Amino acid sequence: MKVLFCASEASPFAASGGLGDVAGSLPRAIQSRKVECRVVLPLYGDMKPEYRDKLKYLTNFTVPVGWRNQYCGVFELTHDGVTYYFLDNEYYFKRTGLYGFYDDGERFAYFSRAILEMLFHIDFQPDLIHTNDWQTALVPVYLNLYYRHLEEFRNIKTVFTIHNIQYQGKYSMDILEDTVAIGRQDAHILEYDGCVNYMKGAIECADKVSTVSPSYAQEILDPWYSHGLDDLLRQKQYKLCGILNGIDVKSYDPSTDPNLAENYSASNFGKHKPACKKELQSLFGLNDWPVPVVAMVTRLVGHKGVDLVRHVAQDIINNGLQLVVLGSGEAEYESFFRELAARNPGAVGVKIGFIPSLARKVYAGADLFLMPSKSEPCGLSQMVALRYGTVPIVRETGGLRDSIQDSGDGKGNGFTFRNYNAHEMLNAVLRAKEGYDNPDGWKVLVKRAMECDMSWNASAKQYVDMYEQVCQLW
Ligand code: GLC
Repeated sequence: MKVLFCASEASPFAASGGLGDVAGSLPRAIQSRKVECRVVLPLYGDMKPEYRDKLKYLTNFTVPVGWRNQYCGVFELTHDGVTYYFLDNEYYFKRTGLYGFYDDGERFAYFSRAILEMLFHIDFQPDLIHTNDWQTALVPVYLNLYYRHLEEFRNIKTVFTIHNIQYQGKYSMDILEDTVAIGRQDAHILEYDGCVNYMKGAIECADKVSTVSPSYAQEILDPWYSHGLDDLLRQKQYKLCGILNGIDVKSYDPSTDPNLAENYSASNFGKHKPACKKELQSLFGLNDWPVPVVAMVTRLVGHKGVDLVRHVAQDIINNGLQLVVLGSGEAEYESFFRELAARNPGAVGVKIGFIPSLARKVYAGADLFLMPSKSEPCGLSQMVALRYGTVPIVRETGGLRDSIQDSGDGKGNGFTFRNYNAHEMLNAVLRAKEGYDNPDGWKVLVKRAMECDMSWNASAKQYVDMYEQVCQLW
């Protein structure tokens, strides 16, 4: 089977969040299961020169965007056994950063259309196209509207994966004809609540819609989580499923990670992880005390549950824990944490920014990893934390619920709480501290956390099963 995996980012070429991690590791995992999976990405201006220099030019053509035609060049690169296509248009993609521009709607309408046009020009005819999030959501829409009648497109199946339902690609109806190139007679495919909604189009048109955890697949049927799409998703529930993400266990491996003060594994963390903690405490200006360090590596935005932390941060510290925060986001949260650190010297360390190498030192050096998200489609950090022997404390939502089980019964791999309530979270933190204060029991828990299988193995199999099922649909 041949699969074309479409995404707006994939590490290591260009990544701004979890989608980049998934698109950078899932195709390889799928590929090792007798599926040929190739990936298509925009060629962004800030792609690192080490990769840019290796690109091989394949061809170029023009892409209809509304009533205009735009250039598209295709470059190819093989990385870790996976073939990547990079679509080049400097007007759209030679900018600093990936998204957040006034014309994002046009940029990704172009990209989605270019993916389909590319199939006329390369020697790869997919049986299935797997699209991800709103940026590539128009692919199944255009396929059905403009390409289905052609022999080479007749049998192509489509899967659409929602990584985060909050970002839907919503625009005014004004862009429908001139930019998205969809006539009024077809407006109903994209129209939702009086707006053009790219994600809605994919949910309508794709053969299968998946999300990144089984719990999230259920949650988004509920208005509390759905950002307005629950009605539509309930109608389309017959084609909705959830598959838990994995992480790249080769890259996130504490026994080889070059960023750590000392490397360690599940059999010797007791000897080496303390050096990582010592380094972390010094980097974040914390006292060199044998108290549990609870860490957060997160975007500082509402849905990550920062409000809960804000509410009881002082209680956490007063109960004898140290707090480390690494992340950036909304100004009010950034300044809250800066002030908290200023008021609690030696007990709270905060760095504002997205610094991947430092994040790895945090995963390794902390004892506890806090993720109290209001909603979390999957979440990757809790899996990385497990792998680095840093015990997660999470709210039972989405992928957090599917990957972390409370250790209260002597079996789980972390600490969990159910409701979006600051004192429930505090209670989980205090239970974790009690656990930490019993060194023998703690070692058992850390070892169990480190031994959880967070690789793509099980999930890649589920993706391939889903592809096979979709290919037999019609
Ligand atoms: C989004 C979600 C996150 C998920 C990631 C990869 O960033 O917010 O929960 O892990 O996508 O699927």
